[in-house]
Amino acid sequence: VAAVGTRRRTLEGWLERHRRRTRKLVDPLADDDMHRQHHAIMSPVVWDVGHVANFEEWWLLRELAGRPSTDPDLDVLYDPVVNPRAGRGGLALPERREAIAYLDAVRAEAVEVMRATTFDPDEPLRRDGYVFSMVAQHEAQHQETILAALDLRADLDPYPPAALLASHRVLGRSVDDEARVAVPAGAFVMGTDDTADAYDNERPGHLVDVGDFWIDRFPVTGRRFAAFIADGGYARAELWSDGGRAWLADTGHGAPQGWVPDGAGGWGIRRFGHLVPLDPFEPVVHVSYWEAQAFAHWVGGRLPTEAEWEKAVRWDPVGGRSRPYPWGDAPPTPRHANVDVARFGPAPVGSLPAGASAYGVEHAVGDVYEWTASEFTAYPGFSCFPYPEYSEVFFDEGYRVLRGASWATSAAVARASFRNWDHPQRRQIFSGIRVAYGGDRGRP
Ligand SMILES: [Fe+2]
Repeated sequence: VAAVGTRRRTLEGWLERHRRRTRKLVDPLADDDMHRQHHAIMSPVVWDVGHVANFEEWWLLRELAGRPSTDPDLDVLYDPVVNPRAGRGGLALPERREAIAYLDAVRAEAVEVMRATTFDPDEPLRRDGYVFSMVAQHEAQHQETILAALDLRADLDPYPPAALLASHRVLGRSVDDEARVAVPAGAFVMGTDDTADAYDNERPGHLVDVGDFWIDRFPVTGRRFAAFIADGGYARAELWSDGGRAWLADTGHGAPQGWVPDGAGGWGIRRFGHLVPLDPFEPVVHVSYWEAQAFAHWVGGRLPTEAEWEKAVRWDPVGGRSRPYPWGDAPPTPRHANVDVARFGPAPVGSLPAGASAYGVEHAVGDVYEWTASEFTAYPGFSCFPYPEYSEVFFDEGYRVLRGASWATSAAVARASFRNWDHPQRRQIFSGIRVAYGGDRGRP
């Protein structure tokens, strides 16, 4: 980990940058867009904003600095366990200017606290400024949630921060979007021992044996997914598992979220109130685990296990270590990964060759989260820190793991060891597909 002064500047940079982005994303929204709960699985945006402030108050002003609660009622209002998503639309939420004022007031004190805090190596919350990293990452993760809530809405007016989508043009590509890379059998280090930024569920690093397999070089493109639809993929029961068939019967879906027939046999995509042409070489986004699994069956493959995904993306077989990022140790730049809400959508495959892993996997961090076959469980030797409601309460509850990061993920979160998870039926998140083939789990 960097020297203390450098580390402080990094953390201050994340806190400032993430706050600027929160304001950039919510300020243009109409009051109704801020306050109404448009879908039971997403919060009213103003709740996310107030919750971000309350989380920062809890960890930085109270846990770290021992200051009293600003308002005990707010602690209840913004407690995600006491008030789960489905009921948040019925809460008495503050006006947006009150929520923003709360953000500002907490931040002003948090900056003082940070300047007065020593990064005591014997105190896990303070060591390397962990708690500041956690608070910065938490705000960024709620930005993704806010963006997912907005992208779920078919009735959203064109969203000004996403205005660049209005000029979206489809360009020709030259890469083979069906290319695969081989990953030979052998043990690798899964997870990490990093205690500066990683969440508890990413730790500890541990050896996992993985058989040989093949995996797609790129996430599945819109072109490939449109071919699956054109081949009757949603109607072919043999491609779907029992869970997938139940989901199909329940939802009646026949295309990814946001896909709209263009009237000429092709597809447009509705994104943040903008209708854009399907870019055939952009990764498909907004698919459920069941759709990902059926697509994989259609191409004669399967979803990778979480261990396979991580080995293909992080393991350096020459250096004998797992890298923090697919390409090495340096944090993402726009040459490596499409993160930080730079595009308001995934980037065409083949456009980020500098981001390739040792095995040649590209676009693994950024663009879209990728469904794995694995359930969300604790790594051997897991130790809960600093609170059970981030990870522990979600273990062994039937959630499927998604790996990588999306275009909406902050570079501060987009570690290759980062684990995301959701219910298999969900597709409001920025979720996509990468197919594995062969290996211990079945031949193509
Ligand atoms: Fe939260």
